[in-house]
Amino acid sequence: MKFFVDTAEIADIKSLAASGLLDGVTTNPSLIAKSGRQFKEVIKEICDIVPGPVSAEVASTDFENMMAEAKVLRPIAKNVTIKVPLTPDGLRACRALTDDGAMVNVTLCFSPAQALLAAKAGATFVSPFVGRLDDIGYDGMKLIADIVQIYKNYPFKTEVLVASVRHPIHVVEAAKIGAHVATLPPPVLRSLFNHPLTEKGLANFVADWKKTGQSII
Ligand code: G3P
Repeated sequence: MKFFVDTAEIADIKSLAASGLLDGVTTNPSLIAKSGRQFKEVIKEICDIVPGPVSAEVASTDFENMMAEAKVLRPIAKNVTIKVPLTPDGLRACRALTDDGAMVNVTLCFSPAQALLAAKAGATFVSPFVGRLDDIGYDGMKLIADIVQIYKNYPFKTEVLVASVRHPIHVVEAAKIGAHVATLPPPVLRSLFNHPLTEKGLANFVADWKKTGQSII
């Protein structure tokens, strides 16, 4: 499973990239607004830190302006991935952009039918939002299972990029299902490391080693 981080905060991206576990970055207009940064500048900075796919979402909702915005975003870096909403105009742009060699992440996916359309439009990634479905009492992880099952029946190249992740269980369950990618808020990614028995066990190892009075270097 590939791990992307879902943020536009440079400090978080730098520290997580240093872990060697980061395969890409996703942003969206809300995350860009939260960062307070100029969009094109922060995308360039992120692309310089992380060599994997970096999602930069168009702001327009009509095909013509989506294409115009993508024309501005693509030259920022070779790993820029154009993010478009799962709408008729968004999928029309997806098809045109992927036919032209761009990577495209189709976002705001909430149903298997939508995910089928995204694959037919040649999307590089489709982003089903599990957390937002859970938030309103639907089973977000069932959507992931349905999409993975559908995609396995056809030679689609679209990767399932699990988004709107709220906690480690979303990550584990998505991995069990076989989703290709999970994009995680920085706190969720960091929480994957945590287990009280690891902390306790390491503390005991350190204490017992100290008793030996030895040093390795
Ligand atoms: O960036 C796409 C997705 O991960 C957003 O998730 O937390 O706003 O539901 P969230």
